[in-house]
Amino acid sequence: MRHRSRLVYLAFGGLCVAVCCGFALLALSPASAQRSEDVLARGEYLVTILGCDDCHTPKKMVDGQPMPDMTLRLSGHPEGAPHPTWTPRDVMERHALFLGDPNMTAWAGPWGVSFSPNITPDEETGIGEWTEEAFVQGLRTGKHQGQPNGRPILPPMPWQGYGKLTDGDMHAIWEYLRTVDAVSNTVPSPVPPPGPPPGPRPGE
Ligand code: HEC
Repeated sequence: MRHRSRLVYLAFGGLCVAVCCGFALLALSPASAQRSEDVLARGEYLVTILGCDDCHTPKKMVDGQPMPDMTLRLSGHPEGAPHPTWTPRDVMERHALFLGDPNMTAWAGPWGVSFSPNITPDEETGIGEWTEEAFVQGLRTGKHQGQPNGRPILPPMPWQGYGKLTDGDMHAIWEYLRTVDAVSNTVPSPVPPPGPPPGPRPGE
């Protein structure tokens, strides 16, 4: 008899714990769902107003203006698309520090040619395999993927300004970028700068 009542107590106790946990979960989940919705909304807002599409989304001409082609959103310089070339004479003769291609994803200047990378979550060709740490440190330090010995991130990526985003805003941008459509598009590596500037060399 005693044994039976102990069992009843145990069962009742177990039931209480389960009910309490259920309530706790119910209370927690809408709040955390709301929180992550807020984070994504903030990320979308920041990606929009900081103009990531201006340079990372290929363009199509609409009424004579280059507009982002949102079907290829944030997929970077289109694979195989030509890019401009530049010589140091352009600065003097054409008053052009850099030349951009029609997609506004390739940039030729004194640094060589830089290409806006694919920042969709595609695992092979985008940033799907990146860590949040590498993403944030790249923007904070101006070094590729935040590696201390990594190559500098080239113009015109405005990391100097973005590097001052708060931790929360960085996280929101990262989280939002994970939700955009993955696009498979391999972007070329940067091309090194042209040779030394024209003019007399030492001894000439
Ligand atoms: C004015 C043009 C421009 C804008 C605006 C821009 N980017 Fe970039 N971004 C580039 C270019 C060009 C590169 C490639 C630089 C290189 O190869 O070193 C780049 C590189 C990157 C990289 C790779 C960094 C690394 O570690 O190598 C990330 C990530 C990135 N951009 C994210 C963003 C995000 C997010 C935004 C908006 C908040 C944005 N970019 C806005 C032009 C731009």
